[in-house]
Amino acid sequence: MSNLKSNSRRHFLAQSGLGLMAFAGMPGFLRAMEGMQGLHGMPKLAPNKASPNFNPDVEFDLFCRSNTASILPGQQTQVQQYAALLKKGPKETIADITGSYLGPLIHLQKGQKVRINLHNKLAEPTVTHWHGLHVPAAMDGHPMYVIDPGEILVYEFEVLNRAGMNIYHPHPHESTAKQVYNGLAGALFVHDEEEAKLELPSGEYEIPVVIQDRLFDEQNQLIYARSMHDRMIGFYGDRILVNGFPDFKIDVASRAYRLRILNGSTARIYKLGWDDGTPVTVIGVDGGLLEKPEVKPYVMLAPGERLDVWADFSGRNEGSQLVMRSLPFSGVLPKMAERMMRGGMGGMMHHNKLPVGSDYPIFTARVTKKVSDSPKLPPQLSTIKWHRITDTANPDKPVPIGISEGPMAMLLNGRPYAYNDIQDFERIKVNTIQLMEIFHAHGGGGGHGKESSPASGEHGAEKPSGGMMGMGHGGGMGMMGGMKHGDDDQKGGGQGMGGMGMMGGMKHGDDGQKGGQGMGGMMGGGMGMMMSMAHPIHLHGQQFQIVSRSISADEESDYATVSEGFIESGLKDVVLVMPGEKVRIIKPFQDFKGLFMYHCHNLEHEDMGMMRDFLVE
Ligand code: C2O
Ligand code: CU
Ligand code: CU
Repeated sequence: MSNLKSNSRRHFLAQSGLGLMAFAGMPGFLRAMEGMQGLHGMPKLAPNKASPNFNPDVEFDLFCRSNTASILPGQQTQVQQYAALLKKGPKETIADITGSYLGPLIHLQKGQKVRINLHNKLAEPTVTHWHGLHVPAAMDGHPMYVIDPGEILVYEFEVLNRAGMNIYHPHPHESTAKQVYNGLAGALFVHDEEEAKLELPSGEYEIPVVIQDRLFDEQNQLIYARSMHDRMIGFYGDRILVNGFPDFKIDVASRAYRLRILNGSTARIYKLGWDDGTPVTVIGVDGGLLEKPEVKPYVMLAPGERLDVWADFSGRNEGSQLVMRSLPFSGVLPKMAERMMRGGMGGMMHHNKLPVGSDYPIFTARVTKKVSDSPKLPPQLSTIKWHRITDTANPDKPVPIGISEGPMAMLLNGRPYAYNDIQDFERIKVNTIQLMEIFHAHGGGGGHGKESSPASGEHGAEKPSGGMMGMGHGGGMGMMGGMKHGDDDQKGGGQGMGGMGMMGGMKHGDDGQKGGQGMGGMMGGGMGMMMSMAHPIHLHGQQFQIVSRSISADEESDYATVSEGFIESGLKDVVLVMPGEKVRIIKPFQDFKGLFMYHCHNLEHEDMGMMRDFLVE
């Protein structure tokens, strides 16, 4: 194991070229490296076994295994996949999606006691997390519970959640993204009486829509992140798959449907809207039903987020169709990356046929049957118990979640992921409700957090990345140059470094030896701003409510392209935080002590260390 580590470190250094060396002496650098290397000191625990005192209503085996799937015409694709075998409970508990690489749909009832036996049939460690479920820390799929090939991990918990769409996916530290990308993910629905009473469209009228993007080679095999650049901004495919299928079409009758939408991409953000301008009627989000439907021109959907959509095809003619598209928007990626993806800047390398923020179809609904009757949209859907700021344990001192983006490091609160590295502000008293503030911490180095968050004053002084981020400013570190060298195997050596700056480096890399002179000037904005991008921040455990969003004036024009697409009237467990944006949330930490993670659900970022633990005690 230690051999492997030092190998990967050497490889990493070689890949990233001399540009990175410039960082080596800086405070925080080694710690950041550690986070990325897996030197995080995670203990290896004996896998949890079935407890004789737990009497499950539902029990199933869940296998993680390698398989092949028919995705594109022609050759089968090598994937990793969940499969389930029901051992006890209602047979509706497990529903396969025929022909898909996605895991089966899991249907649970609130109040059920559930035992899941996770079998690792992969050739690598894994663990499964029940994203959205409120379960004990030891059942949450924290990376410290990974099991080796051949091992079995037993989960036992009671379903405490209200009705909603949740996700199950792997969570091994540093390989979550890869495993999800390879196919390990599925939707988990909780049902309850409040939902049942509404008699919403169900059965064939309730359709899961899991949206993912993938990149294939000529042999129909999946291609994953090839460069540090792919990891820094997230990995983006150029094919949209829905439920595991390209060019997804559903045949519908002219009546109302319930679409259960999940963004299962590792990084891609969607702006969902109907192609004929019909507004999107939203009845639920991550944490279940809204109180009342919301009608939106479009809805933003970041990785990990869910949407419950009322799609009414009533009155539409047989033969007509409605396409759900991702509509144009800007500002979620660093400007430079956005331009490169669109093929500008001579950016062959990072050009993508489906740039983030461009206009492209997600799926098509074809009306194939005319019917005269349809259920009506209930005006009142549910009751949510809202908390006020005065209910929180810390109304004047929000728990900080500071996003920092920087060279080779995506951090939260200035620190990469490390096991047992709990800071004071990450200790949370059980059975409290906490006010939290998510903000961009780059830009001012260590002191920045102070002004935007009272609580962060405590840790401002010891923020190891302060120096690191600060260095980016006007320094011209040649970060991207460094990355690019990796792609081209050292070509261009260290010229990119000196004073040339990030974009110099980039340009240099893309065009071989052509240097980046004259680009240094563009560097003026500083690294922090250059790298500024949107992050879907996810917190494990109970869902939270969004109290406020505020955007800095210089981001307003990009923000206007997405701002009508956020929904604050429901419970959430992922919130998309745009560049320059500050979001306040209220989150309960009830019932369970232990480690509950918070991280970016851009899974490439998560794997780079943009992840931390709260210790609930
Ligand atoms: Cu869906 Cu910790 O993640
Ligand atoms: Cu989660
Ligand atoms: Cu992120």
